[in-house]
Amino acid sequence: MEFFQNYKELAPDAIFGISERFRQDKSSSKHNLSMGIYYDEEGEFFSMPVVTEVAKRYVNENFSTAYQSIGGYRPFLKSLLYLLVGDESIEKSEKRVAMIQTIGGTSALRTGADFLLRGGIKQIYVSDPTWANHRAIFEEAGLEVGTYPYAEPTTMSVDYGRLKNFVVGLKEGSALLLHACCHNPTGLDLNKKEWEELLILLRKKKCICFFDMAYLGFAHGVYEDSFPLRFLTENNIDFMLAFSCSKTFTLYGERVGALMINTGSEQEKQAVESHIKQIARRTYSNPPRFGAHLVHTILSTESLRKQWEEELSTIRKRIEQTKVYLVEKLKNVGSQALINSLKESFGFFTLLGLSPSQVENLYKQGIYLTGSSRINLAALNSGNIDHFISCFCKAIQD
Ligand SMILES: Cc1ncc(COP(=O)(O)O)c(C=O)c1O
Repeated sequence: MEFFQNYKELAPDAIFGISERFRQDKSSSKHNLSMGIYYDEEGEFFSMPVVTEVAKRYVNENFSTAYQSIGGYRPFLKSLLYLLVGDESIEKSEKRVAMIQTIGGTSALRTGADFLLRGGIKQIYVSDPTWANHRAIFEEAGLEVGTYPYAEPTTMSVDYGRLKNFVVGLKEGSALLLHACCHNPTGLDLNKKEWEELLILLRKKKCICFFDMAYLGFAHGVYEDSFPLRFLTENNIDFMLAFSCSKTFTLYGERVGALMINTGSEQEKQAVESHIKQIARRTYSNPPRFGAHLVHTILSTESLRKQWEEELSTIRKRIEQTKVYLVEKLKNVGSQALINSLKESFGFFTLLGLSPSQVENLYKQGIYLTGSSRINLAALNSGNIDHFISCFCKAIQD
């Protein structure tokens, strides 16, 4: 077939490609720190016990392979909305928030991108740096992608002053992708005061805030991490949200997520929802059933919700302890920027600030991280952390 000869093989994916390389490495001592997955203290893939329990029950009692509606499982969406906005705003939000269940956070981002394009938005700004797939998702949809200043690489801190100046100079009505918490890849977040000031500024400039929330509960806790969304809801400010249940409920492969759009009225909600449903119908038709039912059961049963929050908090604390250990071991070796980033960051990730050749050097020693030198701290444990530290020290000396 001559036609297919036009296709040239592409470079591997920036994150999944590293895991492929890891699988091909025959060495007996190798560690994959590239993907955002939580591993337990033994280095094993971890499913939250509450999720496993509910899944078994669901399979025994309610298993079904029937299609869902285009918008997915409505009770799941309502539970999620309630989780994010709480008692105070739920009544108002139910009237104003257009929502559909999506295939993980990724398809919420993509459907949101298609929705923006329908409304005449041609460009979106993402943080510099950002998760490798953001640019790819938006460009694939046909949006132009610009960047806004975010983290200062030499000090590994949020450069809030530059970010604010950038927003002041933005054209009215611009769209921005914002990380709700646990910024990927730096782990560096805005504080409450900065969020409030920035969100008010963005509202004045009639900007469209598209939030990506893939790490709810990993920074401070479920309630605290949803602060920017509650602030917007309470102040009747429109926003879009791509929510992922992959990490927060350890449901990675079940592909559970949601796209929510906080509009100004019930009428707007109806119109917006009709658009996102039509986009869903034309791209994947309707989302998978299983995981959304599990999340709904957990969130709507008081004891299960409590258990889930406790399990999430155990995960969060283990990652925090790993950071404390690294700071202690690296304080005389690593750069000040790295120490800052370990001390100030939240969630799975931190950037090591290594050059591409130093990253290659780590691959040769069996340590796999992304090309930007992002590591997943949840893949470190007492069995591999000292080995990682010694490989890191070697890599920065070469
Ligand atoms: C910042 C960010 N957004 C979105 C996603 C997508 O999540 P999902 O796997 O649910 O599609 C990820 C996954 O790693 C992520 O890190």
